This record gives sequence, structure tokens and C-alpha cells, in this order.
Amino acid sequence: MTSLAERLAVPRATTVFERMSALARETGSINLGQGFPDLPDPPELIAAAQRALAERSNQYPPMRGLAELRAGIAAFYAREQGQAIDPEKIVVTSGATEALAAALLALVAPRDEVILVQPCYDAYAPLVTRAGGTVRYVSLAPPHWTLDPAALAAALGPKTRGIVLNTPNNPVGTVLDRATLEAIGALCAAHDLWLVCDEVWEGMILDGTPHCSALDIPALAQRTVKIGSAGKIFSLTGWKVGWAVAAPPLAAAVAAQHQFLTFTTATPLQWAVAEGLALPPDWHRAHRQRYAAARAWLCDSLTAAGYCVLPASGTWFVTIDLAASGLPADDEAVAQRLIAEARVAAIPVSAFYAEQPERGFLRLCFAKDDVMLDEAAHRLAQFRS
Ligand SMILES: Cc1ncc(COP(=O)(O)O)c(C=O)c1O
Repeated sequence: MTSLAERLAVPRATTVFERMSALARETGSINLGQGFPDLPDPPELIAAAQRALAERSNQYPPMRGLAELRAGIAAFYAREQGQAIDPEKIVVTSGATEALAAALLALVAPRDEVILVQPCYDAYAPLVTRAGGTVRYVSLAPPHWTLDPAALAAALGPKTRGIVLNTPNNPVGTVLDRATLEAIGALCAAHDLWLVCDEVWEGMILDGTPHCSALDIPALAQRTVKIGSAGKIFSLTGWKVGWAVAAPPLAAAVAAQHQFLTFTTATPLQWAVAEGLALPPDWHRAHRQRYAAARAWLCDSLTAAGYCVLPASGTWFVTIDLAASGLPADDEAVAQRLIAEARVAAIPVSAFYAEQPERGFLRLCFAKDDVMLDEAAHRLAQFRS
């Protein structure tokens, strides 16, 4: 039996985001590390939340989410992605993080092996191990960060039960195309694997590449839990309204976990997100355009200053190739120097790896106002020169 003291002695790592943000605060640095926007909140959403607080309910909503929000999510996907989704397949959760937790708790049995693709979002591995599973990693290949389905196939073992994918990808901003998802679909069907597809960045594809959802691939439709997030669609990360979408038996398994994780998600924010999703396509295009402009500005400034910025389709991040920028290919050391010498915080991409990390890349968040981006670009240019 483990005593309380032994339990509390288990090391608990703080995430790189917390570490870098704390350093940024201590040193008064511009924080291009953690992924949260520093741009004005969408006024339509704030007004909708205020109205919902004053005029709608502040009591428990239905466990799977307000019917109006689930219908709104389905209508949004129909409009933006041409996808017909039955609202019955949707479970509203407290952020995508809870949707990921509910999906993995539902799908992973003790000793099951799950394949993760690194670099990857830091919640996946702890959630798989919390559910009793073990992790096997496959790596994306820089500089284009392509995922080779043959590498996924080679990683399958007798205990492999599922795969977690992320498209568009945080940290590197690339998307999986239909052909790759179809090859993964064939693999999942042949080996009876489930897929958790984290698509939280689907609304932040900034170069016009169409988003291909795993749910659009016939071989994946019955075996995939797709994860979405209003925090990313509306740049309101603190709202923590997310969802899982899956075929009815899978959705029921996710809902069964959700009911004992949080049970429900803030009612007024669900109303506000439903209103936001119903805003016309032009509104969503203009919202994305604001971020596309910030990204173009930072990429152009960095390129002019001699940095090599890697191509990416979406998210709020750009990645710098350090060696190609004439800097040492040691992302942790360069990140520390950037804080000390330039007062700019960035995230080393190696932090998104568990094994054999790529050490030559830094992630910068461009979702900042013009003044802050201007100053950051100026400091980064001086640092390099
Ligand atoms: C890939 C990915 N998945 C999930 C999340 C968590 O989303 P939420 O804030 O809705 O829980 C994030 C947040 O940055 C993310 O980048």
C-alpha cells in the first residue's frame, strides 16, 4: 500500500508552457510561448455570454450539452466543412482536454498500447497512461513534418488498440491530407483500431487548405472520436467549451466518462458558443483573416531578419528552423538565451517529444496585437544580428 507521503513524493512535472510563461513574467519578456491570443475578444461572443448569464439558465444543462449547441455544432460543420453530422453524435465537454480525457478513458483498457505521433500536444501521453495504457511513438519528419502511414503500420504491435492524431498539428501547424487519412483508415480497419482525431485547430487553417476530418473517411467514420474546441474557433481559450463527435456507440461511451468527469459544462457559455457558431461564414472568414495577417507579419519580419520560418497551414504558431537560421540547433538553450538576451519567450519544439526529440526548432505564437508583435520581431532581429 502506498502511504500519503509516498504518493506526494511522486514527481509531478510542470509543463514547459507554465515554465516559460513564469520565466516571461519574472523577466518582463514578451510571451510568444504559451498559445493564447492577445487580441481583442470577439464582441459578439462576449455580448452573447452576457445575455445568456442575465436571460438564460445558470443551472445544470443536459449532460451531453444543450440541444441548441449540439444542433449549432452540427450546422457549423455542415456549412464550413460540408459534413452532415447528427447532433446525437455530439457530446459537449469542458474544453477539448476533457473530451480527450473522456475518449481515452472510454477507449483504453489496462495494458493496451496506443500510438502517438510526436511532436504532439502534451496531454495525450499522461491521459493514455492514466487510463492504464502504454504509449508507442511515431515521429513526423521535419522540415515538412509529414506523417508516413508506413511508419504507423511498422509501429503496430500485438497490443496496439488505437492511434491519436492531431490535424492541424500543434506545434508545427501542418495538416493531414485526405490520402494520408485514407491510408490510416485502411490500417485502422485492417487491425481493428480506434482513432482519436484531435481537430481543435480546424477553424484556424490560414492558407486556404481545406480541413479534412477523420470522420469524412468512410473507413474511419465508425471508429473515430473527433475532438473540437470553441476556445480555438473563437480565440476564447479560457471558456473551455469543447466537444467530442463520434458514431452513437462511441459517443455513448465518451458520454459515460464525461458524466463522472465534469458531468456538464458552463450553461451560459454553451448558449454563447451556440450563437457564435451561427454567425455567418463571412464573420468566421474575417476572424481567421485577422490571424492570417498577424502570421504573415511575423513571418515576413523574421524572414527579413534572416530566420528560416518553416511552412505551415494553421494554428497560432510558426516554427523556426534554428540551424537554417544560423543559430545553434539546441532549442532549449536558444529559448533560454532568447529570454535572457532578447526578453522574448518561445517554446522549444523538443518539449513536444517523449523520445529522440528534434532539437533544432522553436515555436512562436503570433496571436498577438500589432504593437507586441512589432516589438517582438524587433527584439528577435537584434538577437540574431
Ligand atoms: C492540439 C490541442 N488539443 C487540445 C487542446 C486543448 O483545448 P481546450 O483548451 O479546448 O481544452 C489544445 C490547446 O492548446 C491543443 O493545442
